[in-house]
Amino acid sequence: MGDKKVIAVVGATGAQGGGLVRAILNDAQAGFAARALTRDVGSEKARELARMGAEVVAADVDDPESLKKAFAGAHGAFCVTFYWAHFSPEKEIAQAAAMARAAKDAEVRHVIWSTLEDTRRWVPLSDDRMPTLMGKYKVPHFDAKGEANHLFTDLGLPTTFLLTSFYWDNFIHFGSGPKKGPDGTLALTLPMDDKKLPGIAANDIGACAYGIFKKGPEYIGKTVGIAGEHLTGERMAASLTKALGREVRYNSVPPGVYRGFGFPGADDLGNMFQFKRDFNDAFCGARNVEVARSLYPGLQTFEQWLARNAGRIPLE
Ligand SMILES: NC(=O)c1ccc[n+]([C@@H]2O[C@H](COP(=O)([O-])OP(=O)(O)OC[C@H]3O[C@@H](n4cnc5c(N)ncnc54)[C@H](OP(=O)(O)O)[C@@H]3O)[C@@H](O)[C@H]2O)c1
Repeated sequence: MGDKKVIAVVGATGAQGGGLVRAILNDAQAGFAARALTRDVGSEKARELARMGAEVVAADVDDPESLKKAFAGAHGAFCVTFYWAHFSPEKEIAQAAAMARAAKDAEVRHVIWSTLEDTRRWVPLSDDRMPTLMGKYKVPHFDAKGEANHLFTDLGLPTTFLLTSFYWDNFIHFGSGPKKGPDGTLALTLPMDDKKLPGIAANDIGACAYGIFKKGPEYIGKTVGIAGEHLTGERMAASLTKALGREVRYNSVPPGVYRGFGFPGADDLGNMFQFKRDFNDAFCGARNVEVARSLYPGLQTFEQWLARNAGRIPLE
C-alpha cells in the first residue's frame, strides 16, 4: 500500500461503496488504495474484495470506536448510511455523526458524504400535500441524510456532499420493476405523471465518487449531484419493452395510491416520488449527467444498463 492515498470505504460490500472499491482497484496506477469496511471480514463478498486487492477491515457504523480505527491513516473516507436496513432516521443521523467524528479524529483530507435533500426545505411539515411521517419527516430516508449534512460542516471537515439518484438496480433488487397487471401486460408503476426521474446504475455512483477523490480539492466544500439519465416513465417503459422483448407500459398512479401499496416504506417512497414530481425542476437541476460523465467517462445510460442487466429483472 506504501505511499498510496488510502480511501476508507463504508458499505464496501454494498452498491455504492462496492462501486467505489472496484473503481479504485481497476485504476491501480493512479495512486489510490481501497480500504473496505465490513462488519464481517469472513463473508464471501468481503473475501472477494480482498482477493481483488482491497485491504479489508472490520467496522460497524453503530460502533464509533471501530470506525475510528478503520479511518486511521486514511487520506479519504466515503460515508454512506443504510436506511432500509433499519427504517430509522434517528439511527442514520447517529451513524453520520459517528462517521464525521471518526473522520475528524483521523484528520482525513477528503470526505464524501452520500446524501439526499432534506425535503422539508421544500415541503414544510405544515404542507399537507403529503402526510408527515414518524412525527417530523416528509421523506424520512431523504430528510435524515440532508439533516446530517451539518454534522460534517460543523466539524470543519473537507467534505463533498454527493447527491445520488434512484438506482435502476431497484428494478432487480427492490421490487420496483415491471409487474403483470390483471390483463397479463407488464406495467411499470410510478407516481411521476409525465415528469422525469433521474436514475443511475448503482455501481456508477461509486465510480463517480472515485472521480471526486481523484479531482480532490476542486470538489471540497461542494455539493455534487449525479445521474446517468433523466427519464420519464414512458421512456423507461419503452426501453424496458425493447430490452425485455415484451410490452411494458407505464402506469402512472397518484402518490396517495402508491403510499397505500402497503409494502414496508411505501408511504416514505410515495412521498419521495411526489417530491421528485412536484419539485421536478429543482430535483433534476441538482443532478447533472454531464458532471457525472466528467467524473466517470464510463457512466451508463439506461439502455446500456439494460443491455447488461435486463435478464436479471424478476418479472413473475
Ligand atoms: N436504492 C436507491 O435507489 C437509492 C438511491 C439513492 C440513495 N440510496 C441510499 O443508499 C443507502 C444504502 O447504500 P447502498 O445501496 O450502497 O447499500 P447496500 O448495497 O444495501 O449495502 C449495504 C452494505 O453496507 C454494509 N452495512 C450495513 N449495515 C452496516 C453497519 N451497521 N455498519 C457497517 N456496514 C454496514 C453491509 O456490509 P457488511 O454486511 O459487509 O457489513 C452491506 O453490504 C441507503 O441509505 C439509501 O437511502 C438508495
